[in-house]
Amino acid sequence: MDKIYVLLFTVFPYLCLTTFVVGHAFRYVTDRFNWNARSSEFLEKKSLFYGAVLFHWGIVFTFFGHAGGMLIPQRYLDLLGITAEIHIFVAFWSGLAVGLAAFLGALLLLWRRLTNPRIQAAGTLNDIVTVSALVLVTGAGIYNVIFSHYNVLYTIAPWIRGIVFFAPDPYLMIEVPVSYKIHVIGALALLGFSPFSRLIHIWSAPFSYAVRRYLVFRKLPGKVSDEI
Ligand code: HEM
Repeated sequence: MDKIYVLLFTVFPYLCLTTFVVGHAFRYVTDRFNWNARSSEFLEKKSLFYGAVLFHWGIVFTFFGHAGGMLIPQRYLDLLGITAEIHIFVAFWSGLAVGLAAFLGALLLLWRRLTNPRIQAAGTLNDIVTVSALVLVTGAGIYNVIFSHYNVLYTIAPWIRGIVFFAPDPYLMIEVPVSYKIHVIGALALLGFSPFSRLIHIWSAPFSYAVRRYLVFRKLPGKVSDEI
């Protein structure tokens, strides 16, 4: 097997994943004042609303779909009565819904970045590269769902589990169509690039918002003394 090919499906994933983990930790410690999503909402709201809502809901559910669908071996799902046919059926329709949302959202965000003069003036090349990479990865993913009906359960899925258990088998990826290879390599590269971009904010999901105490901005009548 070609050496480049072996490196791409054994070494490259660990390079990206290590950069992802170490890079985010390093940046969190050394660059705390720049740790944010660099919101551009005050410059333009409307297309950001549609783009960001579509993209974020799409990408978060896509993540859970990938994790559940790829990391659990089919033989365990068979025990629960979820056959490969059912698995593929559910993966197709749910992947179509959330993948399309992520792709269309990313496309709208890219269009906004490239056409709105205020966003262009305040944005950076890094922002355009980040959103373009998201369009490429989600675009390849949705292309695979719609046009390339390839069974990933016995090829890409065990390869990914091999990565998780530190025993990747590059032979599993040999027969995989090129559009899937672009999707996988692109997604890994994006993970490696993440610490150098605004994607750092994925670690700052405001979960505590749902359970935190109310912030009271006015005095409750009769409860707080006027002298305070
Ligand atoms: C974990 C939960 C997440 C939260 C709470 C979150 C929150 C946010 C917020 C507040 C913004 C700024 C929007 C604005 O300009 O006002 C943003 C932008 C963005 N987010 Fe997220 N995000 C999350 C996950 C993700 C993930 C998983 C990705 C991609 C893999 C992502 C990619 C982006 C991108 C590319 C932008 C910039 C859009 C643009 O301005 O062109 N986010 N996010």
